[in-house]
Amino acid sequence: MSIPAGIFDRVDLEVKVKDVYRQVALAPEGKYHFEVGRPLAERLGYPARLLDSIPAGAVESFAGVGYFFDLARLSLGERVLDLGSGSGTDSFAAAVSVGSGGEVVGLDMTPEQLHKAGELQRTGGFANVAFREGHIEELPFEDGSFDCVISNGVINLSPDKAAVFSEASRVLRSGGRLVIADIVSGRALTPEIVCNTELWAACVGGAEQLGVYEQLIADSGLTLRERKKNPYTFLSGRARRATDTYGITSLSLVASKDSKAH
Ligand SMILES: C[S@@+](CC[C@H](N)C(=O)[O-])C[C@H]1O[C@@H](n2cnc3c(N)ncnc32)[C@H](O)[C@@H]1O
Repeated sequence: MSIPAGIFDRVDLEVKVKDVYRQVALAPEGKYHFEVGRPLAERLGYPARLLDSIPAGAVESFAGVGYFFDLARLSLGERVLDLGSGSGTDSFAAAVSVGSGGEVVGLDMTPEQLHKAGELQRTGGFANVAFREGHIEELPFEDGSFDCVISNGVINLSPDKAAVFSEASRVLRSGGRLVIADIVSGRALTPEIVCNTELWAACVGGAEQLGVYEQLIADSGLTLRERKKNPYTFLSGRARRATDTYGITSLSLVASKDSKAH
């Protein structure tokens, strides 16, 4: 995606993204371009039993775009990193799968999301989960630190997706996997949509074309293994019109780091 110079302000974008997801943490019952909460999670395929086993306060602010734990196949003892962990739904879900011998780190840049997730971690007694502040384009972790990197509805929000995939690949151990759900487009978006930071923060404006998105994953040294479409729809008329016109969809995918990468 080419971002026209001088029109698109990354600082302004980060402010807008944080504004939206601060509200999602503090007022999940509010009105957004997208759906939030447990009914969304159930429709995307999260088993009710899994949702029952994680804090309700996290699920009420769930703003993911797909289900991927069937693809992630997490096992006991694994180390998992959740990029853009929000209020923690996927971090807590991963923690249930990896057990007390495993470890989950959720990373996010929005203080209110981190605060909410951190409180739920403490009160829920999830000793194998920690939440950290940071940007997904520059991960504060050593090379090869994780077995699995997950992310739900976040990478589309980044103006530097190449850096996100490169960092995810770097922190994965050899043989590890990236398992994500994200919004992509069928056609190139117009500059008017790309430069609209409100639509970007709503997970529409930053949707990369699928072919480019997959190439960025390949360029980071990861190999795409599986992909599936998610039953995700936006709520607002404006976001829906853009998705109809440009073939915007939600996908879940797995990409693995083979022994040659990094
Ligand atoms: C659509 S929400 C998804 C949250 C969570 N994954 C879920 O499923 O509920 C996007 C989250 O990504 C975070 N985020 C967006 N861009 C980020 C970036 N560049 N670095 C770190 N966090 C980011 C936001 O703060 C927000 O919490």
